[in-house]
Amino acid sequence: MNNFIFQNPTKIIFGKGTISSLSAEISPSKKILVTFGGGSIKSNGVYDQVVKALNKYSYIEFWGIEANPDISTLRKAIEIGKRENCNYILAVGGGSVIDGSKLIAAGIPYNGDAWDIVMKRDWTDKESLPLASVLTLPATGSEMNSGAVISNRQEKEKFAFYSKYPVFSILDPETTFSLPKHQIACGLADTFIHVIEQYLTTPNQSPLMDRWAEGILQTILEISPKALNEIKNYDAMSTFMLSATMALNGFVSMGVTQDWATHMIGHEITALLGITHGHTLAIVLPGTMWILKDEKGDKILQYGKRVLGIEGREREKTIMEIIDKTEMFFNSLGLKTKLSENGGDVSIIDEIEKRFKERDVKYGENRSVNSEIARKILERVL
Ligand code: NZQ
Ligand code: ZN
Repeated sequence: MNNFIFQNPTKIIFGKGTISSLSAEISPSKKILVTFGGGSIKSNGVYDQVVKALNKYSYIEFWGIEANPDISTLRKAIEIGKRENCNYILAVGGGSVIDGSKLIAAGIPYNGDAWDIVMKRDWTDKESLPLASVLTLPATGSEMNSGAVISNRQEKEKFAFYSKYPVFSILDPETTFSLPKHQIACGLADTFIHVIEQYLTTPNQSPLMDRWAEGILQTILEISPKALNEIKNYDAMSTFMLSATMALNGFVSMGVTQDWATHMIGHEITALLGITHGHTLAIVLPGTMWILKDEKGDKILQYGKRVLGIEGREREKTIMEIIDKTEMFFNSLGLKTKLSENGGDVSIIDEIEKRFKERDVKYGENRSVNSEIARKILERVL
């Protein structure tokens, strides 16, 4: 096991009716900038619950943080936050609203342009306003981590940066009852692949992290049909919501190496084609597993045996079977897993290869995913 430091300060308030506890968590002296997405929360009662909980506060609403939050929208929110002297941010929505709000929280006390913060990548030791969230979409783990992914549509770019963790996050599974099926599918795929990025690396680094990760993977496989088809199944959605949070809050990555190549390629696909984040990962992962089968093979076999119940005598054939079964799981969620079925073609592969070459990237736990390997991964899933 490698040395590590672990500290996750976010308080999680979980369960039915918990949005009302907002007022117990934020000091009444705060001037809050409340941030929202495009309006789904107006039709599912979440907005009304938030407004009721904030009735004694001074707050300003900012609407319109889109999926894959765009820098131009966030600049507007920062301007309003500065002008109105807001000193607390409350994000109400999915990962995009929370991520965008992390940039708003960092951007209000900053004097320069917010894109500088994204480009700096590490903003963890710089000033940021306190941020809390009411989560409405289980997927990203943003409610309990310090990361945020920001898009720049004008430049067709999408990059992650790191700042402060949310002070607290409210997770009421009933807020998910209005989610479209495709968003649930993408959230399940995202959660699954967050664990895979931290698990499917080199074996024997930590038996505890392995079992923890395998537990989340098995749980997602088990509850997916219910989460997808019985949208008002409280127990299934609770399990989904908690799994998504646990998948990317640092609990499965203590002392082990991490990959993230699938995510880095996926971000480029979203930037170029606009495909939903979790869906891009379901497209890329089978390619990553196949092209990196020499370095990941032993762990793929462990995953196959312990999570999918697949064992076989012939190594390569068994690995292929494990990858096929993984892809079939994504298909069972209604996600098409070939790039060409989703509007992609060779020109997209060319462009991603070019970008990775210019940036001289080296992704993956062994830093082996450069522009050429990324090309091979994408060709495999075309
Ligand atoms: O804007 P509204 O109207 O709310 O609609 C949203 C949006 O269109 C809708 N939605 C959210 N909650 C709903 C709902 N519709 C009905 N009922 C509800 N309860 O869902 C759509 C997608 O929302 P979005 O927030 O974009 O989805 P998600 O949570 O998957 O976030 C995706 C973003 O997070 C980034 C992704 O790259 C992407 O930009 N990620 C952030 C990470 C992090 N912070 O650690 C890690 C991830 O790997 C990921 O990269
Ligand atoms: Zn993700």
